[in-house]
Amino acid sequence: MRSLVRVLPGLALTLMMVGTAISARAQDEPTPEDSTRAMVQQPSFARDVAPILVNVCQRCHNPRSTTYRTHGFDMTTFESFLKGGNAGSPVTPRNAAESLMVHHIKGENGFAKMPPGGQNNLGPQAIERIERWINAGALLDEGRSPREEIQKFAASAESLEREALGKLSAEERDKVFLTRALELYRKSGLKDAPQTAVSTHFVAVGPLPQARLQHLTKEMEKVLVELTRFLGRPVGAPLIEAQDKVVVLVFTEKTPFSEFVQSDQNRRLERTSASVHKFTAASSYVAVVDPLKGSDEPDSDRDALAAKKKRGSTRNRAADSPAGPERTLVGLATQDLVEGLVGKVGKSPRFLAMGLGCSFAQRVEPASPYYNTLRRDAFNQLRIGWATKANETLGDQGDPQDLRAMGFSLVEWLSTAPPTRPRFPLFAQVLIADGGNKLDEALERIYYTKSREQFIGMWGQWVGTAYRGLVGGR
Ligand code: HEC
Repeated sequence: MRSLVRVLPGLALTLMMVGTAISARAQDEPTPEDSTRAMVQQPSFARDVAPILVNVCQRCHNPRSTTYRTHGFDMTTFESFLKGGNAGSPVTPRNAAESLMVHHIKGENGFAKMPPGGQNNLGPQAIERIERWINAGALLDEGRSPREEIQKFAASAESLEREALGKLSAEERDKVFLTRALELYRKSGLKDAPQTAVSTHFVAVGPLPQARLQHLTKEMEKVLVELTRFLGRPVGAPLIEAQDKVVVLVFTEKTPFSEFVQSDQNRRLERTSASVHKFTAASSYVAVVDPLKGSDEPDSDRDALAAKKKRGSTRNRAADSPAGPERTLVGLATQDLVEGLVGKVGKSPRFLAMGLGCSFAQRVEPASPYYNTLRRDAFNQLRIGWATKANETLGDQGDPQDLRAMGFSLVEWLSTAPPTRPRFPLFAQVLIADGGNKLDEALERIYYTKSREQFIGMWGQWVGTAYRGLVGGR
């Protein structure tokens, strides 16, 4: 039992009873790890109680529910919640032990257990939070109106977690993210402790020399700065929030990598894929197979690539193994980082996120022949049926490989050709903010194109001219 000394009188008794009766369920515990923190904080309706009402109780306790006539209890607003149902107000301020709601959530003294049915029972910590809030006076948070919908201001599990992370010191936060990174890493089936490197926005883990991991996080920070500038992000809305970090997982073999993808994303990998990403509120990562298989020669790959390119030996090989030694670790990670972040911040069409991913990656591995493979793929569409393929791309349809090649050619055209270059950042920002279905509007407003067909024609013309040299005599 936790120290009872500082606990209010009414709570002491209930605390002792909690341990016995109630089964804990993950869902009503948005922040299991920081219940200790909640104990020393002032109770808050928005933080401690509202999420439970919204997630567990409102399903039945609203005027449209079929059981509404039985109980008459509407929890839509704070006002209707306080008023209560047929039996009156659910709370007796400063007296949790006498509160109707507490009787119900505990199912004590003959009151029907809430929620009914034995599922979604509130865990001890959730009950404790409700009791503390009642014992502190059952007040609404300052600045909130009792007529507002509770759902609008109930703190989500995600924002609670953010808040908790924001309060940690930098070292503690590093530890939290390292732990998360290692948990992810173990999904690959690898048991050995990998090397780790932590920077402001990234934590990298993998079985390769630490110097290379450090180099990787440093490069990722640079990419982040460039992307932030390109997207014109305001100071208050960083791509990766101050309390957050993106995990970068590096594998040296294909097997643990696909094992990881299978386990975390529940899907099979395409044969050629050597990098994946996931960007959600709960977990953001990039996972990559190191083209150098964990060897300990940072960046020697760049020179090797340049030499290879001169000899022209990669022409046909690149197509069936885009992830071979033709690419660099930093390049692969950049591609997925940019694609993931662009996809996360707005409603970007896929072709644009993919195109930007490749375009940023190409800047960090300019010697990689991979990009000529993409260019050739785009060029070949000119012979197969440009208008169809281009339309498909702009609608985010079609084979992902083609989408990537076409997206890259589009971004390369718009970001390098003198007439389109100056306005490209604006164009990208608008598409990311408004989504692909506003494409025609954006084209007209930003590039003054009369129609999508006209735009597709100009794009094809550029590809025909700019990429012709790559196809040789064919
Ligand atoms: C599946 C539907 C359902 C869910 C979910 C549910 N309730 Fe109920 N609740 C009822 C029904 C039906 C009654 C009336 C039953 C009775 O009194 O025997 C009721 C009655 C109550 C009452 C008494 C109201 C009165 O004035 O008589 C309280 C208090 C209450 N619920 C609180 C809660 C809380 C708190 C939650 C969430 C933790 C919750 N309920 C979740 C269906 C539900």
